[in-house]
Order: sequence, then C-alpha cells, then structure tokens
Amino acid sequence: MAEYRTHDVLILGTGLAGLRAALEIARRLGDDVDIGLVSKVQLMRAHSVCAEGGTAAVLRVAEGDSLDLHAWDTVKGSDFLADQDVVYRFVEQSPAEILQLEHWGIPWSRRADGRILQRDFGGHNFPRATMAADRTGFFEMQCLYDTLQKYRNFTRYDEVFVTAMLTVDGGFRGLTAIDMPRGQFLALRAKALLIATGGAGTLYGFTTYSRSVSGDGLAMAYRIGLALEDMEFIQFHPTGLEPSGILITEGCRGEGGYLRNAQHERFMERYATEKMELAPRDIISRAMMREIEAGRAFPSDSGLPYLHLDLTHLGAARIHERLPLIRELSMKFVDIDPVDTPIPVRPVAHYSMGGIETDINGATKAHGVWAAGEAACVSLHGANRLGTNSTAECLVWGGICGAEIVDFLSSEPPLERLPNELVAREEQRVFTELLETHGTENPYELGHALRFLMDEHMGVYRSRDGLLLAKHEVEALRQRFAQVNVSDKGRIYNVNLVNVLELDNQLELAEVAIRSALQREESRGAHARTDFPERDDGDWLKHTLAIRTAEGISIEYKPVTISHWQPVERRY
Ligand code: FUM
Repeated sequence: MAEYRTHDVLILGTGLAGLRAALEIARRLGDDVDIGLVSKVQLMRAHSVCAEGGTAAVLRVAEGDSLDLHAWDTVKGSDFLADQDVVYRFVEQSPAEILQLEHWGIPWSRRADGRILQRDFGGHNFPRATMAADRTGFFEMQCLYDTLQKYRNFTRYDEVFVTAMLTVDGGFRGLTAIDMPRGQFLALRAKALLIATGGAGTLYGFTTYSRSVSGDGLAMAYRIGLALEDMEFIQFHPTGLEPSGILITEGCRGEGGYLRNAQHERFMERYATEKMELAPRDIISRAMMREIEAGRAFPSDSGLPYLHLDLTHLGAARIHERLPLIRELSMKFVDIDPVDTPIPVRPVAHYSMGGIETDINGATKAHGVWAAGEAACVSLHGANRLGTNSTAECLVWGGICGAEIVDFLSSEPPLERLPNELVAREEQRVFTELLETHGTENPYELGHALRFLMDEHMGVYRSRDGLLLAKHEVEALRQRFAQVNVSDKGRIYNVNLVNVLELDNQLELAEVAIRSALQREESRGAHARTDFPERDDGDWLKHTLAIRTAEGISIEYKPVTISHWQPVERRY
C-alpha cells in the first residue's frame, strides 16, 4: 500500500535549478510553505556538481561588456533558433544571480585587485565566465545547499525515484515514487511541481553526464501530454577525455589552450580563422569530427580516435591556479600531467538544448507544473548553447520559477484530492507488472544497444539513412522492452528495478529525439545533416514540438521569437 505525504510544492531534482527555486520559495514564504525536495540520488550528488568552467554574466560594463553583446553572442551561438525575448530576460537577470551567490558566500575566483575574475569561453565576445577555479558547479551547489540550511520548511526525499506525474483534467495532483532505502511506494501530493531533473545525455555511451541523469523528468512530462521541444539538438562538447568521456572544461581553451591534430597542427585555423579554439561548440565539434574522419587523429585502443588539447605552453602556475581539477582528472584517469603532456580528447555528448516546452516564466501547459534548467526548453539556447550559459540559466529560471510558484500558491484553492485509483494503478504497474513478471530480456543489453545506436547515428553528424536505421532499431528495442526482466525481486534498494524504469524513459526520449532529427532537413547548430549541409531559414527557422498521441509521436512546429536580430551567416 502506498504511503501518502502532502506538501505545498514538490521540487523534482536537486541540482542548481531545483535548489535555487527552493531557496526563492523558502525565503519569500518562510514558515508559511511546506516544500518537498525529491532526488533520485543524495542531494549533493546532483549532476550540477560536475559543472566546471563557469557561469555567464555581464559584470564589467565599464571594461566593455554589455547586455546587448551577451544577448547577441547567445543568439548567434544558437544559430538563430533562440527566442530573443527569452535571451534578453536571461542576460538582464544573470548578473544579479552572480551577486546573490556572492552574498550567500560563494568563493568566486578573484583578480589581483580583489574583484570577481571572469575568463573567456567559446562564442562569447568578452570574458564573462564567472568561476570558482574549475569546480564552479560544486561551489555553486555547496553555496545553495548551505544557504538552504537556514530554513526549516522543506522535507528531503533523497534516493526517492519518481515513477509518474499524476494529473486530473490537465492539472497537477501529485507524484508516485519508490523510496529506495525502504522499498516503500509513495504518493506525494502538492499543488505545484517544479521539474528540474536535467537533460537526457545518458542516451549516449560517450557522454559527460553522470549515469543518474536519465531524462526521467522529460519522459514523465511527455507522458502527461506536455510537448518536448527541439529534442534533436543535443550538444557535443569538443573535449571529452578519451576514453571515459569525462568533461575537460572549455575553460582550458578559455585560459589559452590549443587543439592540435596528429600532425601537430592547430587545425581550427581551417574552420574558424578568427576565434580558433574559442568558436562555439557546434563549430569546433564538427571540425574535430572532420579531422578524425580525414585520418588526422591519434588512434586509440578504445576504438575512439582522439585529438590533443595542449596546455603545455600555459605554465604550471596557471594550471595549478585555474585548472586544478583538470590536472587531477588527467593524472588519475589517463596518467598524464597536462603541465607537460597534451590531453587526449574528442567530442562528447554533453547537453540537451531541447526539453519540456515552457513559457518565458518556466510554466508548462499543465496547470501547476513548471520546468527549469536543462529539463526545460524555455528556448534560450536554440540549436547550440554557449558554454557557461547553462549554470546561469539554472540560477535565473530557478529564481523565476520559485517566484512564480509563490504567486501561484497564494491564489490557488485548497489542495485537490489525489485519486487513490491513479496511485494504485501505478503501484500495480511498478511492483507487480514490472517487478514480479519473469521476462526474457536483459535490460543492460537493451541499454547498451540503445547507447551504441545513439553514438553511431545521432552523433555530431547525422543522415537520413542513419536516422531511419536508428528509428527502426529503437522501435525494435521498445518491443523487446515489453519482455524486460527485473532479476532482483526484492523491494529494498532495488537498483535493478530503477534501472529498468530509467531505460523505459530513455527509450521514449531516444524515439522523440530521432524522429525530431529525421524531420529537420537542414543543418543548424548541433544538428548537422550530411545530406542537408546548409541552414535553411526559409523552411526551418522554427521550433520542433513532439507530442505523445495514441498513434505515436506527433511532430508540430512553432515560430521563433525574433525581436532584435534577423538570421545572418555565422562566421567566427
Ligand atoms: O566546459 C565546461 O566547463 C562546460 C561548461 C558548460 O557546459 O556550460
């Protein structure tokens, strides 16, 4: 039998967006609010702790930066698919978030004169990456977590895996979940929900994401009828450590690092003559794949040819001060010291530009449901995100959604009933149909096959043939999933069961991403089609919306908001 709990608001996901929203609600409402903070892992293990390079904000207007310049860089970087009203809201709000964290005690890196230090990042025309060395996400999370300890109005649900969002007539009623340590089924009721569960990058084998980021929030939102927007745009970060995929921050290039091929050339000269290694990620990742395909990469035992990220000219002092984590990772994982040896890297799945469709305030089309951070598609990043705009987005829209939820709670009538039959049906699906059935399919083999086909056909470059193949293969995997076996039949801390539920989510999202990619017959940002190599504004300057119907995925489109700049050719 499910155990019922009631709160005013549930925050699903405790990364930067979730914690920032919790703080906004807590500080505005004090003891007058009851927040449930739900995480499938321990709170401080949210993937945001892995963010390295920085958080974008205009802080130095007197030295030449401006909101217009940040907005222009973001729009051009997005390959003109970003909604420009959203971009302006973002650049106007992000400086306040940096100062807010400063007041809450974050140890930002400093210049010699004591002011906040900022460094260069790809696609930005001014050094505006605000940083805490190369552990920015960790310190931001720590700062938000510490500040949250001032409040007593929240309940933590750590290691609680949510299985479904429950709505009645399009309005939010609650979540069902497995409390993993106790093996107990939960029904969590609330008036409002914020989805802040991150992206979907573990659809890939070679990825910077923590294994826990399996797109659960996106898949569950899709199942309650919310549209997933622009899911074909999956960002490949140029520098994933070979062979693990661990993120090697773009901050390395911001500090002056070079990319070199096996002939020792700084090959970016061929692709982005002015910006070189500080061009946006879509352009550098495409360039790296072309170098690899032209045979100018280093061979590898893993089967993943790589290029070099060369920091050797930066000097030990700069690396120790600004890139200590990168040095530690290189030494621990590939046994090299970047002070004197280049780092082996190649493009790696890193970020979902797409997500749950929201309005500019983070509200979804379900009454009482918001989404923020990477799980949301507020349409800030368009077809290609600039580095350091995502941690900033989490802070900005965590704050915005928190404030919106506060207003909503004050005007909303008392909590509606959560129908017991919806909870009972979900408990039956999870604990009886999945857990007790003896299936024939090994979920780990299915997951491996999924990641293989995503790496193969939904990578930096795509083609119609590859995408069609991927579509058919995912459909076949979904059929096999119907016979999936959960071999661990216990209820206490059943990771096997959770992995199966995650795989179900991933298969759903892979299908959406592939279908969205197949239909977009152009190349824009992170979506590079070998069979349609040009951007086509005439036909494709529009957002993709994928909607779940009884007949399968329905694809619709909606216009891009263009308030300031018409699309032009991108040169870097
Ligand atoms: O390279 C990095 O440090 C990643 C930053 C980002 O994705 O924003």
